Amino acid sequence: MDDKSLIETAIRQAKKTINIGLMVMVFCLFWFVQNQFYPDLFQGNDNISQLDSLQNDFVEPPMFELDSASIENGIHIPTGLIVDDGVQDVMTTCGACHSLDLVTQNRATEEGWKEIIVWMQETQGLWDLGDREEIIITYLGKNYAPENTGRRKNLENVEWYNL
Ligand code: HEC
Repeated sequence: MDDKSLIETAIRQAKKTINIGLMVMVFCLFWFVQNQFYPDLFQGNDNISQLDSLQNDFVEPPMFELDSASIENGIHIPTGLIVDDGVQDVMTTCGACHSLDLVTQNRATEEGWKEIIVWMQETQGLWDLGDREEIIITYLGKNYAPENTGRRKNLENVEWYNL
């Protein structure tokens, strides 16, 4: 090896070192910028966090409140239910899965309501109503009884004219 080739080798070495140094610096700069300004760039779990927020948005079934502001002429306006003993139980129990329109648009005797409840228990996943069942069936049989059951009801509170 002569002097010339020694110098050339030295220069080549120096260039290599500088190149590697530059690469390291560029990499550091890139890492810094990414970390500083786009911290989520390499986080692939965007979908999962979206899913999380979807799950947090899950809508609870409506919890109905019986406050006098929402009662008009004995009807609970938000649900359409007749206000009577047991209405709160009907509201929370029967409103858990479906609209209470299904209740207010049906008419049945107590036995009929019992059958509807048993049908829902056998086929629709309705749970055992426990102590509430009697209260609910009484309420339904009284307020959502079949109409036109034979003779009309006796008139009540009628003021008769004196002829
Ligand atoms: C576990 C959920 C659940 C609960 C709680 C529930 N139901 Fe239902 N109910 C259903 C389902 C499901 C249907 C069928 C809806 C349809 O056909 O679209 C239904 C249908 C009905 C119907 C219509 C039946 C028919 O002949 O079409 C009535 C009336 C009814 N429910 C009344 C009630 C009453 C009263 C209560 C409270 C004691 C109640 N439901 C509570 C799930 C439930």
